[in-house]
Amino acid sequence: MFDTSVILQFCKPDLVRVVVLTLAIGTWVIVKQLTIPKELAHLPSVPILPLLWSYAKGEAENERIERLILPFANQKGEGVVVVYALGRWMIHVLDWKARVMVKEVLDNTEEFSKEVPPDGLLLWRLVGYSNVILANGEQWKRHSQIVKSALSGRVPIEEFVSLSNKLFKRMANGGRFTIDQLLMRFTLDAVGTTALGHDFDAIEDDNSPFVREYGTVMEAISNPLYLIFPRLEKWAPRLQLAKQIDSLRVKFDVLMEEKREKPGKDMFTFMLEHPEMTNDECRDNMVVFFIAGHDTAAGSLASMVYYLARNSKIQEKAREEVMRVLGCKEPTQEILRSMPYLLACIREALRLNTPITYIVPRSASRALDLHGVSKSYAIPEGASLIMNLTAVHHNSTYYTEPEKFNPDRWLGKNDMSSTWLPFASGPRQCPARNFAMYEIRTLAAMMLRDWEWTLPPYSPHQERIRNGPSPFALSLPKDLDVDFVRRK
Ligand code: HEM
Repeated sequence: MFDTSVILQFCKPDLVRVVVLTLAIGTWVIVKQLTIPKELAHLPSVPILPLLWSYAKGEAENERIERLILPFANQKGEGVVVVYALGRWMIHVLDWKARVMVKEVLDNTEEFSKEVPPDGLLLWRLVGYSNVILANGEQWKRHSQIVKSALSGRVPIEEFVSLSNKLFKRMANGGRFTIDQLLMRFTLDAVGTTALGHDFDAIEDDNSPFVREYGTVMEAISNPLYLIFPRLEKWAPRLQLAKQIDSLRVKFDVLMEEKREKPGKDMFTFMLEHPEMTNDECRDNMVVFFIAGHDTAAGSLASMVYYLARNSKIQEKAREEVMRVLGCKEPTQEILRSMPYLLACIREALRLNTPITYIVPRSASRALDLHGVSKSYAIPEGASLIMNLTAVHHNSTYYTEPEKFNPDRWLGKNDMSSTWLPFASGPRQCPARNFAMYEIRTLAAMMLRDWEWTLPPYSPHQERIRNGPSPFALSLPKDLDVDFVRRK
């Protein structure tokens, strides 16, 4: 008989050595990855273990900021902290009083350009790199000019009205709806018909392929393990997911070709008519419009529905205004402008559940000093700087009782407008803020007129709004069931 123990005797020490070496290298790589780089070591850093635990349990970005990052900064009296995210350490600016310098950063798009995200992240495989969101310098100016002109036309209120009616038809006589999903369908059709010139038919068609495929891909991209350690994408590549992303991008190529053959009056046709835009640039911008244009607005609408569901008196007060000003008429821009209380409710919802918790990092092309309320912070050249919008919106220096839903704070004279930042600020602030605000105002007014709504008993959102994890740091209420009753 063959004696295997003889072989084991020889192999074992080697095997043990290999295992020990692998473990040692693995530990070294992890420790190196999680250790704050020495050029940032002088800045206050949020403790890594609670951060990792927060990522591991899939905590939403806004909860991490409100529960961990902001309290840490407040306790230490800091306006700037260093945070580990997406495989690296980045500087978060939490304090809008550092505004003079932040303004310098956000206004100076040449010196403080948007950071090119680390290679290999599947998220950017989907979005692409040659688009207005990530471009810098001359390329950004060219894209931005075209995007801004495309968005500068009339606000498509009639389309928003007709899509609201379509949504209400689907809601029939009311009942319990997972409203975040319905609103996602509404905003997808809104951006589809008005900006991209394509009817995704998401409101009516439950099997709309774009909705299905996009949902699957985004859920996989949001896998917490890959969000904490993006390098896993290199070590354990998700080939199947990469294939799904590529197939989704091909769908956009097909749409683009259709649009070239059959131009419309939409914003995308306008972009395609510019010969200076390459094919890749057009497609990547189409993906940006698709994602930036519907996820953010859906999250904002769902937050508004949620806060009004939890605050029935405020819902009633907003309804009184809508009935008085709008009545049975169709909303127009002029009518919507005459509803200050409704606008205050929306502003407050976008403050409390800030749709984009923080913006794309800017890379410091030179060393600079950032002046906070009581301290200055030396920022080294090459550092990643992030404006943390949620932190500003929850800062008690600017907002009394920041956790309270209080639309009244926006009525009359107030000096908070400069700290209301859902659309960011500076030349790269959202070019579609007017479009998005009217989309929200239209649906909100019509919903208040036609429906009353409440949270079901035992809703997981009873205590606070719960967002799902998002690789774009968006606040997207998740599984938000709401009971709707049609008004007579
Ligand atoms: C409530 C809805 C929305 C919110 C809260 C929002 C918020 C923002 C924010 C904060 C930025 C700045 C990002 C940064 O600097 O890193 C931004 C940029 C942008 N948004 Fe929006 N957005 C909304 C809706 C839309 C819609 C509907 C569209 C398109 C139809 C859109 C298109 C864009 C584009 C193209 C940029 C890039 C601008 C640039 O870098 O020059 N957004 N948005």
